[in-house]
Amino acid sequence: MSLRNEIELARQQAREEITSCADDKDIESARVKFLGRKGVIASLMKQIPSLPPDEKREIGLLLNALKEEIASHFAERSSQLEKEAAQARQAAEQIDITLPGRKPLHGKKHIITQTLEEIIDILAYHGFTVEYGPELETDYYNFGALNFPQDHPARDMQDTFYITDTLLLRTHTSPTQIHTMEKRQPPIRVCMPGKCFRNEAINARSYILFHQIEGLYVDEGVTFGDLKSTLYAFLSSYFGREVSLRFRPSYFPFTEPSAEVDVSCFLCSGKGCSVCKNSGWLELLGAGMVHPNVFKAVGYDPEKYTGFAWGMGIERLIMQKYGIDDIRLFFENDLRFLEQF
Ligand code: PHE
Repeated sequence: MSLRNEIELARQQAREEITSCADDKDIESARVKFLGRKGVIASLMKQIPSLPPDEKREIGLLLNALKEEIASHFAERSSQLEKEAAQARQAAEQIDITLPGRKPLHGKKHIITQTLEEIIDILAYHGFTVEYGPELETDYYNFGALNFPQDHPARDMQDTFYITDTLLLRTHTSPTQIHTMEKRQPPIRVCMPGKCFRNEAINARSYILFHQIEGLYVDEGVTFGDLKSTLYAFLSSYFGREVSLRFRPSYFPFTEPSAEVDVSCFLCSGKGCSVCKNSGWLELLGAGMVHPNVFKAVGYDPEKYTGFAWGMGIERLIMQKYGIDDIRLFFENDLRFLEQF
């Protein structure tokens, strides 16, 4: 092959190889290969001395031009690679401002707390203040002062968590009635929210822990009619519509007369649906006129004062409102459940 052809071949080879360099390393090895001390150009240069004199100058010029050409290819390819790298970096960093944002995870109140607060708000509007009582009670406050006979079945170990012979976890919020009346004089209008405990078999309907809110109104001349109108106003507010109430005779040691109160189903207005199991009514709470023996226990004159009280389970209220069929969901802390409220 003539030297001219070799030069032409080297030119093409260099252009191809430099164009296909993918990074600095490729560039460096191609530079060594073509422009290095023992590279393609150098070895072509070495042939000049043995050329006839008239070609020496011409080939020398050709090779010098090729050297410059290759050097400028390298420069071009290097800056191109740099530009591509910069573009890739930018693309990787680019923020797509049209993407929907990620919601920051933040906690909220448990549905039981939300509901208690809502109820306390409604009752505050009707003049009720809030009292809290201890969860660890004595037998006297949980039962005795509330007129439970000594042999009443509710005192049984099977229902009540006893800590000692006389200390127990309260089974209802009614003992807070006693604490409140002991430290205050009528007129009294209070509501008393809190945790209650019963030694029950755990299933979809019952749990060992639940919440109640208790209401108590004591003054001169308080009647069963006041109880009805208060519950009517309160429950209509809570359910967000006018409700009908149904009072069924019942028994609690600390009220006389006593009643179980049902409310017309908030969903079907009493026509019958799955929430009320087609009965049209929801069993909501226990209520009654404060028993004279309870007044005697706290030192109120039962001839002078009358009062009413009611107590209701919060979980049940929420279950009915939202169609929840398993009470255990409240205590399992499964976010899929809790997040819905
Ligand atoms: N303490 C009763 C219960 O736990 C409810 C109740 C409260 C009934 C106040 C009458 C008056 O079932």
